[in-house]
Amino acid sequence: MARIIAGVASSHVPAIGAAIDNHQTEEPYWKRVFSGFERSKEWMAKTRPDVAIVVYNDHASAFSVEIVPTFALGCAAEFPPADEGWGPRPVPVVKGHPELAAHIAQSVILDEFDLTIVNKMEVDHGLTVPMNLLFGSPKEWPCPVIPLAVNVVLYPPPTAHRCFMLGRAIRKAVESYPQDLRVVIFGTGGMSHQISGPRAGLINSKFDKAFLDNLTRDPKKLTRISHLEFMREAGAEGIEMVMWLIMRGALDDQVDEVYRFYTVPASNTAVGHIILENRRKGGAKSKVKRAAARAKVDRIRG
Ligand SMILES: [Fe+2]
Repeated sequence: MARIIAGVASSHVPAIGAAIDNHQTEEPYWKRVFSGFERSKEWMAKTRPDVAIVVYNDHASAFSVEIVPTFALGCAAEFPPADEGWGPRPVPVVKGHPELAAHIAQSVILDEFDLTIVNKMEVDHGLTVPMNLLFGSPKEWPCPVIPLAVNVVLYPPPTAHRCFMLGRAIRKAVESYPQDLRVVIFGTGGMSHQISGPRAGLINSKFDKAFLDNLTRDPKKLTRISHLEFMREAGAEGIEMVMWLIMRGALDDQVDEVYRFYTVPASNTAVGHIILENRRKGGAKSKVKRAAARAKVDRIRG
């Protein structure tokens, strides 16, 4: 049986992608951001998932305002990088996993979540930037990817609660897939930011850090945050954080936080990142090991 072993959340700031593409990662401004993902890349290289499900949002690259699906699942064999106005990013074509994607579509739709099935799609920085942050810049991405595009651009986006419950349905779908696959799920976007209007540049670190705390310990509390509260506290584009709740909903209730990173600003945006692992079934860590893991996280936060 396939199973979700871990969840990753990461911002997808487009300027991070530009810094990678223009070889600026060692410049002091960007080094501060990229150094926070060194341990994450090590974790990913060690974890070696068979498949990644990447929950992200499209920025008018694959979908225009003519068609705006709330949840769109990529079922194609490959997803080329989109031209976002200055040519496609120099990143590998994303290879899909059509069999698992079709299985997820069937399971989730029969579970009454009406996904849009997408058989041809290009993917933009919303997906490729978090991939770079966790996988680096390889010639080929190390595993197939199932993109799940969520509308957080045109009102009304899905609610936090709906996203969390979709995550639950995705977990059920993955666990009913017969082949043994170790799956990692990404939630991307956020954290607090607003890119236009009188509040442009808004960052709310207190809100972001409480969100990270609750993502690990009390995610159900986050499912009660309304759209208005997200916008008031985290800025108009802070609503992207609902996508993190799809990732969290796909994990078990109890998770181990193995790493987190938070820095401001990066291109007027708060960059947040967290790695959560499901506890192994039938081989749960001892209380002592769990306490040691928690102490390690506290040291990293400090
Ligand atoms: Fe975005």
